[in-house]
Amino acid sequence: MAIAPIEIHGKKILITGPTGQVAMPVVEAFTKVADIYALARFSNPADQQKMESMGAKTIKADLASDDLSHLPTDFDYVINFAVVKTGGFEYDLKANAEGVGRLMMQCRNVKAFLHFSSTGVYQYQGQEPLTEESPLGDNHRKMFPTYSISKIAAETVCRFVAHQFNIPTTIARLNVPYGDNGGWPYWHLMMMKEGIPIDIHPERPNYYNPIYAEDYIEKIPRLLAIASAEVTTLNFGGSQRVSIEEWCSYLEKLTGLEPRFRDDDKAFGSLWFDTTKMEALIGKTQIDWHKGIKRMVTSLSPELLKP
Ligand SMILES: NC(=O)c1ccc[n+]([C@@H]2O[C@H](COP(=O)([O-])OP(=O)(O)OC[C@H]3O[C@@H](n4cnc5c(N)ncnc54)[C@H](OP(=O)(O)O)[C@@H]3O)[C@@H](O)[C@H]2O)c1
Repeated sequence: MAIAPIEIHGKKILITGPTGQVAMPVVEAFTKVADIYALARFSNPADQQKMESMGAKTIKADLASDDLSHLPTDFDYVINFAVVKTGGFEYDLKANAEGVGRLMMQCRNVKAFLHFSSTGVYQYQGQEPLTEESPLGDNHRKMFPTYSISKIAAETVCRFVAHQFNIPTTIARLNVPYGDNGGWPYWHLMMMKEGIPIDIHPERPNYYNPIYAEDYIEKIPRLLAIASAEVTTLNFGGSQRVSIEEWCSYLEKLTGLEPRFRDDDKAFGSLWFDTTKMEALIGKTQIDWHKGIKRMVTSLSPELLKP
């Protein structure tokens, strides 16, 4: 049976990367019930104002280089969503890998630390489902040259610091997050609208486990509950396996826009996983993917929906 979630009501929680696609809906939900601190570079001042208007306290810092010693040391929980993909290895490794280490050193008193990783850390292995033990590899090189390597490096630093300082930690390897503010399926919709070909791996269908924002928001307190000083690492996505081809075909059904697929053997390819470990620890996700995709389109591009 899945472990009970932690109580987030009234807790002091640091969220890094709060303005990103994945974290934004989490900040919106959690500021209603907890004391949320939001850390980013806030290169765009409007982002900082947005966080504050949601009720978060903001901390402007670059995880790659800034002094973090002024951060409070009494957070109950830290959720690390921050990620950077400039394409330059030196800065990206510093921000993504050293950054998580520096953050954990400063916040070592937490009850739990949740680090968001990616299923982009796995070597492509055709249509076989991934498990947490599957071989790692430079999966996302084609689109984001530094991404997979720096996410693997970040996991290693995260484990090292957790072990050194006995910090209860979870590493969640996220699959395809999407919601009412976008995500990969929304990029596909925009490509369909503009008539841009969608590059996909020739070994079709290209399977994933997309997870709708409402589901990952519900799961975060459970991911925090399963943290351990040995470090709990799990794949994290929707319980349903869905292919790019299927979600694009459903987008076509909703909008009448046709996807144009183009084979490319360097495209990401299938990255779906065996949900056994995830479901044993935190339970199944709830939102059917058709419902999630329809909500996403209704929220962002209602004008594209067929009457
Ligand atoms: N989106 C996906 O499809 C997906 C899939 C799998 C896993 N994930 C994982 O989910 C997490 C969130 O991804 P996302 O797509 O939401 O990211 P995103 O949209 O690119 O947002 C990145 C966030 O990190 C902050 N940030 C970037 N560099 C920073 C630095 N040096 N110091 C401090 N903050 C920094 C950004 O704000 P500033 O620029 O203002 O600093 C922003 O708030 C990441 O760990 C990612 O690897 C995402």
